[in-house]
Amino acid sequence: MTKRSVNDQVVLVTGGAGFIGSHLVDRLLAEGAREVVVIDNLFLGAEDNLAQAQATGKLTLYRDDVELATSLDYVFSRHDISIVFNCATKALNYSFLNPANAFATNVTGVLNLLELQRRGTFQTLCHFSTSEVYGSAVYEPMDELHPRNPTTTYAAGKAAADMAVESYVRMFGLDALIVRPFNNYGPRQNHKGLMAGIIPITAWRILHGGTPEIHGEGTQSRDFIYVKDTIDAVVKLFAILPAGESANISTDNQVTIADLVHRICAQMNYDGEIARKPARHADVLSHAASNKKTQSLIEYSLTDFDVGLRTTLDWYANRAKEIAR
Ligand SMILES: NC(=O)c1ccc[n+]([C@@H]2O[C@H](COP(=O)([O-])OP(=O)(O)OC[C@H]3O[C@@H](n4cnc5c(N)ncnc54)[C@H](O)[C@@H]3O)[C@@H](O)[C@H]2O)c1
Repeated sequence: MTKRSVNDQVVLVTGGAGFIGSHLVDRLLAEGAREVVVIDNLFLGAEDNLAQAQATGKLTLYRDDVELATSLDYVFSRHDISIVFNCATKALNYSFLNPANAFATNVTGVLNLLELQRRGTFQTLCHFSTSEVYGSAVYEPMDELHPRNPTTTYAAGKAAADMAVESYVRMFGLDALIVRPFNNYGPRQNHKGLMAGIIPITAWRILHGGTPEIHGEGTQSRDFIYVKDTIDAVVKLFAILPAGESANISTDNQVTIADLVHRICAQMNYDGEIARKPARHADVLSHAASNKKTQSLIEYSLTDFDVGLRTTLDWYANRAKEIAR
C-alpha cells in the first residue's frame, strides 16, 4: 500500500472546533495540508479553539451540521476536498439527556460522508470511533477484536458508525479507516456544564472555589491519553492503516477516578472536601486497553501522565484568568 499523506491536500475535519478535532486541525496544517476546512455546528466546540489555525490563513470554518446532507454538499462544492477526518459527535453525557439524538448524530453524520465517498466526492475517510463501543471489558486488555457491547446510546451510535464504515469498505472498496481513542485529556477539553469531562470539571470547580466530586466508589478506571499523543498516533496511522481496519489509541496505564481526582487536587494544592455522588447508570467499570496493534504499526510516544496533567491544569488556570479579564 502506498502511504497516504495530507501534504498539499485539502482536508475536511468534521467537529473540528471541538477538543480533539481542533488539535488535529493544528497538526494537519503543520503537516503541510494546503487547506483545512472545518464543519462544526458549535454544539460543544468553540471558535476560540481554532485561533491558532485561523492565524495561518489556511482554515475555513463552516458553522453547520454533518447530519444535513445538503450542508455537506454545499461545503464539498466549494472546496476540492480529498481527505475527511470525522470527529463530529455529541458528547457522551448528552446521551443521558437526549439518547436518540446522540445516537442519530453519530450514525447520520458518517452515513452522509460514506455516501459522498461512494460517489467519488473524496478519496479517504478517517473515522473516529471510541473505546466506549466495547462497553465493560469481557476480557482485558481490550484489543480491536474485543466484542462491541455498547452501554449508552452514544456508544451504540458509535458502534453502528464503525460497522457502517466497515461495510461500505467491504461493499464498495472505499478507502476508509477507523481510529479508536480511549479517554483523552488536555487543553481545550470542554469544562462547561453537563457535557464536561472529569478533568476539566474538577479543575474548573477548584479554580472557582467549588467542591470536586466523585461518582460512586471512584473505583471505575480509565486509560487517559494526552490529546497530542492521540493526534500523533492518528496522523501516523492515517498514513498506513489498511482500509477497513481499526486501531486502538491508548496508554497502558489505568487510573481510577478517585485516584485521578486526588492527583488533580494535589497538583492544584487543594486540600478541601471531596463530595461523593451516586454512581451513574451505564458507567463502564473498567477500560484497560491493548495498544499492541498500534505499537506494532507506528513509533508511539506517550506523555507521562503527571506531566500531561500539569500542562492541562496550567492551561485551565490561564483560561480562567483570560475569561475573568
Ligand atoms: N474526548 C475523548 O476522550 C474521546 C475518546 C474517544 C473517542 N473520541 C472521539 O473523538 C471525536 C472528537 O471528540 P471530542 O472529545 O473532541 O469531542 P468534542 O465534543 O469536543 O468535539 C466534537 C465536535 O463535534 C461538533 N458537533 C456535534 N454535533 C455536530 C453535528 N451534527 N455537525 C457538526 N458538528 C457537530 C461539536 O460542536 C464539537 O465541536 C469524537 O468522534 C469522539 O467520539 C473522543
